[in-house]
Formats: sequence, structure tokens, C-alpha cells
Amino acid sequence: MEDKYIGVLTSGGDASGMNAAIRAVTRSAICNGFKVKGIYRGYEGLINDEIREFTTQDVSNIIQRGGTILKTARSDEFMTKEGRKKAFEVMQKEKIWALVVIGGNGSLSGARIFAEEYNVPCVGLPGTIDNDLYGTDFTIGYDTALNTIVECVDKIRDTATSHDRIFFVEVMGRDAGFLAQNSAIASGAEAAIIPEDQTDVDQLETFISRGFRKTKNSSIVIVSESPKGGGAMHYADRVRREYPQYNVRVTVLGHLQRGGSPSAADRILASRLGEAAIQALIQGQRNIMVGVRNSEIVYVPFVEAIRKDKPLDRSLIKLLNELSI
Ligand code: F6P
Repeated sequence: MEDKYIGVLTSGGDASGMNAAIRAVTRSAICNGFKVKGIYRGYEGLINDEIREFTTQDVSNIIQRGGTILKTARSDEFMTKEGRKKAFEVMQKEKIWALVVIGGNGSLSGARIFAEEYNVPCVGLPGTIDNDLYGTDFTIGYDTALNTIVECVDKIRDTATSHDRIFFVEVMGRDAGFLAQNSAIASGAEAAIIPEDQTDVDQLETFISRGFRKTKNSSIVIVSESPKGGGAMHYADRVRREYPQYNVRVTVLGHLQRGGSPSAADRILASRLGEAAIQALIQGQRNIMVGVRNSEIVYVPFVEAIRKDKPLDRSLIKLLNELSI
């Protein structure tokens, strides 16, 4: 029988659980009679032929590791027609007939264009801490990042309380407030400033006017990093200017949110999605992202998954406001 390889790659920002997904894709593919090739450095490695065959042993002892053993990159070359042509030629040379792409919005957008241009079966797995892919309740890496943030905020709370300070804690999430909103709820923070609300209201004013310090001597405000809003530093500067009586500090959590051993939830999610990706290919599905909705596996067309507007549950904003009085 002619060799039929499935190629697997990770692309964009690394997320905890990507290794568990690589393991699941590899083992499930082999279990179902396929061969697997690992593609290094995302689309860059596809263009430059940084590829090697993966056996079940190659994915041993990785389920508990953060980052990605395949490494990752944000490829500018794959954004070009010439880059994608090179990638297709390498796929033919390597006898790879289908691709499993583990990554976020940009990575799945690339997969969509590539699949359409070259009629290559592409299946995506949502791998990003931002949780911003439409059509799936959770993305791989989100739960781990959320837990990391909560652990950090618990520590910051000690100082905030001891010194009677307002802390602005900046978290990742680019254009999506899932990490900020839910970490605020889980850590008992007083407010979250999220990109989804940036244009509607002055979120700082709302927080202050809701009665900061009516009953509390310290506060924690979680701020989504966002080019639109200016981040934690911007809000801290505003408070220093507009309310000089308050003692303000800033903590930017940065990339420590992305690393670390994946949570059990992320390992299970990645394992389920990896297996479902192979099932999708067996069924002849293509151009779809595998997701999970209400605990069920779902197949979401790429065009839907990469829509920018995954809605944040507005009741979470009300919940945080009510519980932070
Ligand atoms: O998309 C994942 C993410 O972690 C975002 O939350 C963040 O804005 C971005 O990646 C940071 O990217 P980089 O590691 O390339 O600076």
C-alpha cells in the first residue's frame, strides 16, 4: 500500500496542551492505519521541509509538557501565494495528503486559504490561550492560562491587602476578554476591563463610580492587554492623575501565562480533539475546525471559526459586578 501520511503542525502562539494534541493526533492516526509526519516551526517548516516521520514513541512522555515539541512560528511567507506554492510542493514530495493544524485564528485562516487553493484536506484544532475561536466553547491552553492567572492574582492580593493598594493586573487575550473576565470572577477581583466593552463605556469610570473603597481598602482590576485600550499602565496612569489619593501598582503577567504543564481539562480536551481530527479526515471532512460545544465534539467550518466576534457571555459581566461589591 502506498504510504499515506498525515502531517501535523503547531502554529502561532504556543499554548499548554498542544503537546497532548500532537500525541493524540499521532497515536489516533497510527491506530487507524495512517502514517504521520511532524512538521517543525509551523508553516515555516512546511515551506522549508523541516519534516520527519513520527512514531508512537516520538510522542511518549509529552502529555504533561507545556509549549510544543514541534516548535511554532508566525509565518509571513505562508501569507504569500509563493510561500503556499512552496508548501504544497513540499507536501507532495513528503507524500503528505492531509494536514492537521493546531493553532489560533491566524493559523486557521492560513489553513483555510491553503485548503481552498490546493484542494488539500485540512483540519484545524483550536490551540490558543485566548479562547477566541468561534464555534467551540474552549480552546486548548485556555484553562491552563486561566489557572495560572488566578494563582498569580491570589499572590498579588496579599500585597494589595497588606498595603491598601489598587493593583491593575494585565493579562493576555489580544482582542478577546475571556481570560480577563473569567480570571476576575475566579480570583474575586473587583473589576475586569475587557476589549469587548472598550468602545461603549469608560470602564474605569464605571469601576470607580460603582463605589471603589466603599467597603474595601484594596482592589484588583484585571485588564486585558489591548492595543485599543492601552493596557494596565494606561489605567494606572489615569488613576494617578484623576484620583491621586489612591496608591496604585501595575503587574503585567506577560508570557508566564502561556507556559507550564497543562491542566487536566486541557489534556483531556486536546486528546479528544486530536482523536476527532483523525475521525473527521476518515469521514472525508475538510476545511473544518474540531471544537467542543456542551461537551460534545463539533465540526465547525473554518470560515465560521475564524470570525472575529466570538461573543462573551454578558451575564458574566453582571456576575462579576454583583459579586465584587
Ligand atoms: O494569541 C495568543 C497570544 O498569547 C495573545 O494573547 C497575545 O497577544 C499574543 O499571543 C502574544 O504573542 P507573542 O508571543 O508573539 O508576543
